[in-house]
Amino acid sequence: MKPYYQDDYVTLYHGDYRDHLADIPRADAVITDPPYGETSLGWDRWVTDWPDDASRIADALWCFGSMRMFFDRLTQFTQWKFSHEVVWEKHNGSGFAADKFRRVHEFATLWYRGEWGDLRHEVPKVPGAVKRTVRRKQRPPHTGEIAGTRYTSVDGGDLLQRSVLKVRSEHGRAIHPTQKPAGIVAPLIEYSVPPGGLVVDFFAGSGTTGVVARDMGRRSILFEVQERFAEKAAQRLSQQAFDFAAL
Ligand SMILES: C[S@@+](CC[C@H](N)C(=O)[O-])C[C@H]1O[C@@H](n2cnc3c(N)ncnc32)[C@H](O)[C@@H]1O
Repeated sequence: MKPYYQDDYVTLYHGDYRDHLADIPRADAVITDPPYGETSLGWDRWVTDWPDDASRIADALWCFGSMRMFFDRLTQFTQWKFSHEVVWEKHNGSGFAADKFRRVHEFATLWYRGEWGDLRHEVPKVPGAVKRTVRRKQRPPHTGEIAGTRYTSVDGGDLLQRSVLKVRSEHGRAIHPTQKPAGIVAPLIEYSVPPGGLVVDFFAGSGTTGVVARDMGRRSILFEVQERFAEKAAQRLSQQAFDFAAL
């Protein structure tokens, strides 16, 4: 299939990813934001068995979704082991129900296959540590034989990224109705895909995964079935083209 857009880092195809599954190379991770199948919008149809398809491409899967989506579709994830979730806290809500809490968050869940130790898991670091000395006594036997430790952290040192990330949504400037902000996709890429590595997104929408991966020096293969979105994604990718030669 001819790419709809291509540069040194990003290949975007217009089409149903399932028609090209056999040609997709192994990747470090599938990072994707599938149709949740929760609204009446034309493109919002759950794609049956896509998590199974993802398991043929990579051993790590970051999947956006709501708690309801994951509960309803849990049997579709049986090829995967669940690791943990990151919560994206938005500055404004997306819920329409007046009889529920105002919804201001989404989940990104990490699933994996094989041995945990074989996978990349580079937790992003954020500055902000406060100088302090930590003394840890020996752990009780039921947590394993871990000796006591003592260390001193420094002001401004690194902290592990917290699992709740407050990131402004793309409301008002988005070119896709469910466009994810770069700030929530970047930590997932950093965590699972090494520099120069490959990420696949079956459900590209406006191409956020590709834009962010490229900015971080990772390669990506994207699919978008709707031509109007593929076109917008291609425009976005060419407008925001990164000049790697200048590096
Ligand atoms: C939730 S949106 C993704 C939005 C994206 N994260 C962004 O930042 O713009 C899901 C997209 O998947 C596309 N899609 C649905 N089924 C597909 C399929 N089988 N193959 C490729 N794309 C598909 C839809 O048209 C929709 O644009």
